[in-house]
Amino acid sequence: MDRSVADYLLTRRSVTLPFLGEPGPDPRALRTILTIGARVPDHGKLAPWRLIVFSGDMRARAGELLAKIAGGRDPNLSAENLEQERNRFLPAPLTIGVVSTAKEHPKIPIVEQRHSAVNVCLNLLHGAHATGFAGHWVTRWFTYDAKASAALGASPHEAFVGFVHIGTPQIDPGDRDRPDLDELVTDWRPPAALPG
Ligand SMILES: Cc1cc2nc3c(=O)[nH]c(=O)nc-3n(C[C@H](O)[C@H](O)[C@H](O)COP(=O)(O)O)c2cc1C
Repeated sequence: MDRSVADYLLTRRSVTLPFLGEPGPDPRALRTILTIGARVPDHGKLAPWRLIVFSGDMRARAGELLAKIAGGRDPNLSAENLEQERNRFLPAPLTIGVVSTAKEHPKIPIVEQRHSAVNVCLNLLHGAHATGFAGHWVTRWFTYDAKASAALGASPHEAFVGFVHIGTPQIDPGDRDRPDLDELVTDWRPPAALPG
């Protein structure tokens, strides 16, 4: 067993957006992160997803659009809430939006195509951590909102499955409680009788 990979997988932790700072990945590191992100199980080899990078000034521009959409819907939205929308992609140096491009296929169900896109999110986290950065996988409201998703780059037949913020951790997040495997893992035994 490769101890370093096991140790990494046994200790990796997300670092949340407010604690992801500069420096961000340079173009070479970003390419590695994207390559790791794209290396996922994919039934049918359809690559039913694509990636959108938010970096530099575009982070604030994207936040402005979210504030505009949120403020347009609720004119009573507080200044604090509008500011929260403006900062959705800050302070992380970059964010990668993962878009599912799943469509009807004779053999591969749409849900499996979406599973592959979800795997991309997890692998982007691994890519970020493996290159010395940290990441935070979020969905927030704009993953599920058609207008916001369109503003962030999804076409009508596509849908974001998540956004992975990436940067240099500004804190040591420590660990969080992990599930108790003894409560979750069982050995299969045949049922006393077949259901139905
Ligand atoms: C599909 C999905 C969506 C998530 N969306 C959010 C979110 O919108 N906001 C948030 O703060 N955390 C969100 N999280 C949780 C963070 O990624 C969380 O920090 C992470 O699960 C911590 O786990 P880790 O320490 O094992 O990396 C989401 C997680 C998943 C899997």
